[in-house]
Formats: sequence, structure tokens, C-alpha cells
Amino acid sequence: MDSYIPLMTSDLYVLKHKDIDVAMVRINKITGQIEFIIDVYHSEELPVGCKENSANLAEWWNNRAIPDSRRGIQKVLNYVNQKTSQALMLSSYGLSLTDHYWMQPVEQELYWSDINFFQNDFSDDLGELLTDTGTIDIDKNITQFSPSSSVNGEMKKKWLIKDSKRYLMKVNINNYGQQAVNELIARRLHKRLGWSNYVPYFLEKITFEGKEYPCSLNEMFTSPELELVSGYQLIRDFKVPQDMSEYECMIKLAAAQGLDKTVVRKQLEYTIMTDFILTNTDRHYNNFGFLYDSTKKKLVHMAPIFDTGNALFYQEDYIPTGKYLLDIRVASFLKREVDLLQYVRHPELISIDKLNDFSKETGELLREYTKMPESRIHAITRSIDEKIDFLDAFLHGKMIWKPQKYW
Ligand SMILES: Nc1ncnc2c1ncn2[C@@H]1O[C@H](COP(=O)(O)OP(=O)(O)O)[C@@H](O)[C@H]1O
Ligand SMILES: [Mg+2]
Repeated sequence: MDSYIPLMTSDLYVLKHKDIDVAMVRINKITGQIEFIIDVYHSEELPVGCKENSANLAEWWNNRAIPDSRRGIQKVLNYVNQKTSQALMLSSYGLSLTDHYWMQPVEQELYWSDINFFQNDFSDDLGELLTDTGTIDIDKNITQFSPSSSVNGEMKKKWLIKDSKRYLMKVNINNYGQQAVNELIARRLHKRLGWSNYVPYFLEKITFEGKEYPCSLNEMFTSPELELVSGYQLIRDFKVPQDMSEYECMIKLAAAQGLDKTVVRKQLEYTIMTDFILTNTDRHYNNFGFLYDSTKKKLVHMAPIFDTGNALFYQEDYIPTGKYLLDIRVASFLKREVDLLQYVRHPELISIDKLNDFSKETGELLREYTKMPESRIHAITRSIDEKIDFLDAFLHGKMIWKPQKYW
């Protein structure tokens, strides 16, 4: 008689921080989810946001994978025969290029230096699948070992290696590919303003179904020494007191973990003002962050400004003008974009005189890299001119968030 063999769906893994054993967890191999934390060996090595409460580990792990909302993710999962993004991430031991964590199956002996993606090359197979940038061969055995399974965000993207450097490529063929061009526009804005802590995106073209689209590339700002800690990770477990804004809490928390308050404040204020010029509606807490030195165990820098793609009305047909530009809803510290300006204490960070013809430069980039109609380019550049005028009024002391006073 056949003996009954139970189907083993869970396994034991050691959460590693480089080569340090941090915790023992049980993971469901099918769903890729952490089901149980068996033991914590080194709580100080847990990811930021989980140190005080290791129960947050399961959510941290889930959020590190590709979100279900990423377009096309289900198709990719079916293709590589994985049930979830977390299971896909686990097939690369959960290794990433944004932090130094990974999962070691208890029965294996592995070392960080041999497997991490910062120092070891990886195949482009999974990345091609995730971004439709290759030719898919049905008979080919797809190599899933890739950091592209542990990078979040809505846009299709992959990590790639070019001249030994790692770059994140983001692809979207909708909306004239404007999100990619927006990243380059933001780069030009920061360059003009003389700010240094931003990601210098550049553009390449991809061909999809015979048509060309712009895509953005940006060099990795993390390293074998530095991990990214998102604003979300820093604040998620903090009980914001009633008399304090989330904005002030974020600064306080970053300072408590090693950063200079003024440095944090200036970077956030600068980001608020430049996002205002570009009507970037998506500066949520995963779209800015801090660099954490995993040996010193503290924050050492603000991460450079990244992800300014969801800007300049990229998915709007109608582009507002006049007072409607002061009523833009955003995902950020506050709901209304213009209200964020009230946090600014260092207006001198922006010299308006450096922005002469910036809207013209923007128009040229949109014309060069997209096929959008001239009327749309005109409306976008008009919004920039109007926003710069509004910001100028603000920098001269006008409380532009109070329309009844301002108008
Ligand atoms: N240059 C980079 N170096 C390291 N990590 C990065 C870099 N750019 C982005 N990331 C990480 O990748 C995530 C997704 O990138 P992002 O540009 O925000 O994409 P999306 O537009 O899809 O939100 C970021 O939240 C961040 O964790
Ligand atoms: Mg993002």
C-alpha cells in the first residue's frame, strides 16, 4: 500500500542581513509569504520599521516584492509558474539591489559574497519578461535569478548591467511614454537649480510591436554599503502625536537615526518646491527615502530625489490653468499640493532666475522624445510657466494657499 506523504508547503528560512543570521521564519513556498517568525537572533539587524516589532516583518517582505497592481505581473507569474510575486522573489533568495537582506533555506549553506546582486552578475531573462523588452522563446528555460523580482513600484521595470554598473530601467508605452521624459525634465530642473542630490535619469528607446517608445534609466544609488530605507519604513510604526504633523515626525525620526535635521528639512523642502513646479502628484512615502549604512547601523544621507515620473499631467487630457493649478490633489504629506509650501523654511533653495526658458527646454524634450500633439506640449509648458510664477509669488511672501487672499 502506498504510504501517505503530506505535501510540504512550508519551509524554514533564515532571514539574513549580509551574512548575519537575523531571524528564523517559516515561509509558505507556494505563496512565498512569511507565515511565522520562529525566533529573532539579532533584533538590531531587523529592517528599519521592524526592529521594535518583528511582527511587521511579514508586511515588509510582502511590500518588497512586485505589487499586484503592476501591469502585466499576472502574465509573468503564469509564465514562470509562480503563484505570487513573493514566491518569485524567493526564487532569488529574496536578494535585492535596494537592501542587503535575503532568505537562506535552512538546509543550505550560502554566503552573501557569492550570491549578492551588487557584486555578482545576473541574467536579463526575467527583466525582459517584466518589461516586454525581449523576444520570448516559449521553449527557453527562463532564469528567474534576478533582482528585478524585488523592486516595487507600479511601472514595468528591470535592473540591468551596463559596463559593470547597475541601472533601473522603467518602461511605459502608454501616455506617449511621458513618464520617462518627465524624469529627464526633472533632472534638467535640478541641474539648473544647482541641486546635487538627485538621480540623473537618462533616456533610451525601446521598440514594442514595431513602434519606438522612450524609457528611463537611472543608475543604482544603493551599494554594498548603503541600503535604501523608504519614508514609509521609517514612519510606519510611529504613533504620530496629535499636535505634530507627519512631516515633522519624519524629520524627527530621520534625526533620531543619525541624520542632520537641517539636511533632511532642506531636501524635503527643495523636493516640495520642485515637485510643485512639475506638478508631481506622487511623492508618497515610498518615493523618497534615506540611505542606511548597514555596518554603522544608522542613516547617513538622504536618498537622491527619484521617481518624478507621475508629473506634468501625464495621464490627463485636460491640463488646468490659473487658480485650478492651486487646487491639485497629491499623494504626499498633505492632500493639496499648494498646502505643502507651508512647510518651506528655506525659500532661498530656489533661484527663480535660473528658470528662464525652462518651459521651453521642457517643450523641446517632449517634442524630441514623444509623439504628443503640439497642443498638449503647449498646455504642459504653459502649466510650468504658471507654476513658476506662483512659486515666485510664494517666494516673495504671498500665501498662495489662501486663494481668497491671493486672488
Ligand atoms: N537608482 C536607484 N537605486 C536604488 N533603488 C532604486 C533606484 N531607483 C528606484 N529604486 C527603488 O525602486 C523602487 C521603484 O522605483 P520608482 O522609480 O519609484 O518606480 P515607480 O515609478 O514604478 O514607482 C523605488 O521605490 C526604490 O525602492
Ligand atoms: Mg515610485
